[in-house]
Amino acid sequence: MPVAIANHYTDRSAEDRCKLSIRSVRIIAEKVQRHLGVSDYNVNIVLTDDDEIRQLNATYRHRDSPTNVLSFPFAEGAEQNLQALPVRELGDIIISVDTAEKESNMYNQQLMYRLGWLIIHGFLHLLGHDHERSSEAAREMEIFEQHLLTQVFSKRSRQMIQLAINVDHVATIRQARGGSEPDPVFAASLCEQAGASGIVVHLREDRRHIQDRDVYLLRKTIKTRLNLEMAANKEIVDIALDVGPDMITLVPEKRQELTTEGGLDVISQKKKLAKTVKKFDKAGIPVSIFVDPDADQIQASHDIGARFVEIHTGRYCDATSEDQRDAEFDLVAAAAEEASQRGLMVNGGHGLNYYNTGRIASLETLEELSIGHAIISRAVFTGIEQAVKDMLQIIHTSRQHLF
Ligand code: PXP
Repeated sequence: MPVAIANHYTDRSAEDRCKLSIRSVRIIAEKVQRHLGVSDYNVNIVLTDDDEIRQLNATYRHRDSPTNVLSFPFAEGAEQNLQALPVRELGDIIISVDTAEKESNMYNQQLMYRLGWLIIHGFLHLLGHDHERSSEAAREMEIFEQHLLTQVFSKRSRQMIQLAINVDHVATIRQARGGSEPDPVFAASLCEQAGASGIVVHLREDRRHIQDRDVYLLRKTIKTRLNLEMAANKEIVDIALDVGPDMITLVPEKRQELTTEGGLDVISQKKKLAKTVKKFDKAGIPVSIFVDPDADQIQASHDIGARFVEIHTGRYCDATSEDQRDAEFDLVAAAAEEASQRGLMVNGGHGLNYYNTGRIASLETLEELSIGHAIISRAVFTGIEQAVKDMLQIIHTSRQHLF
């Protein structure tokens, strides 16, 4: 569930003065939520000033002074058994940006890093940690906070890169005869059993492979995450809102192309895309944008409210010389870094196969790879489960030097 952010902080100059970014607050909060395994629970974060937090501190804690963060759990003691909560609600975290800014200056930290610590601190209180209970509890909470800070802010993420599998080409074979076999829904289930962490399908306007029925059935059957790839056109947007995938990826779409040919040009259609992103945001569906490895497109994706970008790896994969491949790899790496610095979550994909994926998967800024054609092609010879396992082996060993 997305973290709800309410911004009561009215000092607009803070955005320039101390690089306050509400979007980055949300992204940090959702990373913390994921690391704590409570992504299914609603959390509200209120950013405010010293005046308001002082009033709340006085009312609820009888301390008439500003503080940095206050947590209000939805139900006291609920952390013992989250499942028993009547609703999936953890509670509210109130943060004073004024105090956070003072503290960031005092400790010589960036404001967003300080806010990250306060968000973590707030979450841990919601989950029942309390440093005021005893010195042991304080020590335990501090260690946990440090651990989470490293997880959330470290570029050298120790998390395994995830593999999402695009099963469009199973549908391509089915459509060749217009019957019901092979079924991409069954293929998706086998991919999950083999260890995939997500399933991707592209519902094209021309329905050349995936059909509406597939998307609706996948929504009911898959147990990992459904990422619906789509163009930002009204018909498909309406279907996507009706289906409710776990995320969507906006791509450009041309009728004549064999596959998605390039990243989306976000800059030239910012207004339209911002509206689409907002619609999905309202429905609680995070949006990723498939972009070329280009800093301006990444900036534009950030500006219109996307939470993810998927960096197009096609030119790296299609390079015809080692020099060209190195140059394209550097562009992908720089783009992933740029997006990560902006607080976006970063996926990658297109054209990846059993020979070129290892290098891309070693990029620590990437969260997930989206791979289709190579895996479905190998599956013809090895079976789909083996094809998935072979790819997982490659992407998992690519980061072994980090462990
Ligand atoms: N990511 C996006 C945005 C795509 O459009 C595609 C192709 O459908 C892929 C990833 C997967 O590409 P491939 O089939 O070459 O692995």
